[in-house]
Amino acid sequence: MRKIFLSLCLAFCVVLSGCADEGNSKSTVQLLFPNPDSGIWKYIGQLCAQLMREANYEVELHHCTNAAEQVEQLKAAVEKNPAAIVIGAQDANALGEPLTLAKEKNIPVIAYDRLIMHTDAISYYASFENNSVGEFQARYVEEKLGLKNGAGPFTIEFIAGSPDDTNAPLFFNGAFNYLKPYIDKGQLVVPSGQKDFQSVATDGWKPDNAQRRMTEILQKYYADGKSLNVVVAANDDLAEALIRAQESVGYKGTPTILTGQDAGANGIANIKAGKQSMTIYKDPEILCGKIVRMVKAVVEGSQPAINDVTNIRNDVKTIPSYLCIPIIVDSTNVDIVKDFR
Ligand code: BGC
Repeated sequence: MRKIFLSLCLAFCVVLSGCADEGNSKSTVQLLFPNPDSGIWKYIGQLCAQLMREANYEVELHHCTNAAEQVEQLKAAVEKNPAAIVIGAQDANALGEPLTLAKEKNIPVIAYDRLIMHTDAISYYASFENNSVGEFQARYVEEKLGLKNGAGPFTIEFIAGSPDDTNAPLFFNGAFNYLKPYIDKGQLVVPSGQKDFQSVATDGWKPDNAQRRMTEILQKYYADGKSLNVVVAANDDLAEALIRAQESVGYKGTPTILTGQDAGANGIANIKAGKQSMTIYKDPEILCGKIVRMVKAVVEGSQPAINDVTNIRNDVKTIPSYLCIPIIVDSTNVDIVKDFR
């Protein structure tokens, strides 16, 4: 009888270990990142995977092309029972439900760069100070135009990011709120009248959408030779969309100030060519390094380093976070950007 019981046990264990083989080992990290065509996500994916491997984790890296695909990738990742899941959300509002599955299985989830809504399944969040990104762009405009000294009036237009990205309104508000007193005083004038996030947002961060909107604005409000002095573009791709819109309508002259973000290859090239004034450098090595240390801590059951326990809230809970500080880059310090792309 005892023999039969033992053989049954053995058979059961073999079946169980067979199941485990189909999942991830306990040292595997699932990395889910957005569309690699937007911003510098392709580079970030590769870098994070490399740093995770150097820290002795096995890695499965997935980029998606749309929100529904990322939901499927997340469900598949949860099925595999990994040590942790790191997500750069494609759509901040789409992941709540699949994340309940991760929580049920006690899989730690870390949000990378973009906050995820409608869930309490996020253990930690690491990003840059996203409000500061917009504010730094605005301070640059203020300084270069001499707004503090009363200079103006100057014309200005805004190009913001995608409404499904929690960062996009933070970038826009950071910039707009800082410049608003100058708009109120008439030192900055917005000929299109487009001054709220919804009007200036760019669906999916797609440069083609921004180029279309800016082409219309140039044709309608700048056709009589009026100069466009400032464009606050949320990232380098959108700054390039403005450059293309100007070229497409044969608009002569470039804005005195054109902002960007990411210090991407296109942004750096445009700064060097004198077509873009500045960018915001959010060194991916710093953020990926933070994420690796967070993963290590949660896997080992210890507390990761965090520097914000109050300000980062989705609609369900406050998420312990680490926020890094971005850096302004223009032609004077462009060499500090690591040549990684
Ligand atoms: C990131 C930016 C990036 C943008 C578009 C944002 O969430 O913070 O760095 O340019 O997405 O991909």
